[in-house]
Amino acid sequence: PLVPMTAFLPRAKKEGFAVGQFNMNNLEFVQGIAAAAKEEQSPFIFGVSEGAMRYMGIDYVVAMAEIAAKESGVPVALHLDHGSNFDVVMKCIQAGFSSVMFDGSHHPYEENIVLTKEVVKAAHAVGVSVEGELGTIGGVEDDLVVEEADAAMAKPDEAIRFWEETKVDALAIAVGTAHGMYKGEPKIHFDIIDEVAKQVDAPIVLHGGSGVPDQAIQESIRLGVGKINVNTESQVSCTAMIREKLGNDPSMIDPRKYLGPGRDAIQQTVQGKMRLFGSSGKA
Ligand code: G3H
Ligand code: ZN
Repeated sequence: PLVPMTAFLPRAKKEGFAVGQFNMNNLEFVQGIAAAAKEEQSPFIFGVSEGAMRYMGIDYVVAMAEIAAKESGVPVALHLDHGSNFDVVMKCIQAGFSSVMFDGSHHPYEENIVLTKEVVKAAHAVGVSVEGELGTIGGVEDDLVVEEADAAMAKPDEAIRFWEETKVDALAIAVGTAHGMYKGEPKIHFDIIDEVAKQVDAPIVLHGGSGVPDQAIQESIRLGVGKINVNTESQVSCTAMIREKLGNDPSMIDPRKYLGPGRDAIQQTVQGKMRLFGSSGKA
């Protein structure tokens, strides 16, 4: 069965590893990610953006995640990624999601607290875990578009009070990563992670995990990051493989002949991240 993130995140923070959120885009992503987890014996989180949900249909999403959890035999959370309002959160919970993110980071600070609290109250009442967000993460992810100039780091004192008031199970803070691939190397503000993680029981969430150097990932985990989101890198490896297969053989028409290798590429990417995050063998 699908489990809330609280089934594994407290252990991750205590033992110094991070659990990956891998976004699902279609069946090949579901299967590639689940196969990686089975191989690595790692817990994981399926991230589903509102755009991905529109693409697949909410009932397909839940059904595929449930089968992936059964097939992989590891703890799996099905998590709404960057939920934009109370209604979409409720719709996901009713459909069978075990976890939700409410991203109120575009609201004024006090309003974000009030709105997040409402989500936490409703979700916790039915055993669903909640992630909140503070600060603005740059880059593009589906509906979410933030210009570099508008990206704003989270203020540690605000992040700490946000958690004290909302009691979210995981706290996403903007610390210099961005959604999508990076143009240069990201400048991660480790001091912010350090300051917030020391005062907050919930693990810190690192969004925009794609393209972050391994060493920076390891350092952030050491300081208190317990959940890391990866989407773009899986997309890049999958699409590069499909492009290669189609390019090599213009007569190829059977989708399984290129989607299958694309799925294998996703699995390879995800297994590499699970090892890097230290979640392998923690199922
Ligand atoms: O919410 C999803 C993640 O933050 C994905 O970021 O596509 O840069 O890996 P990414
Ligand atoms: Zn994100």
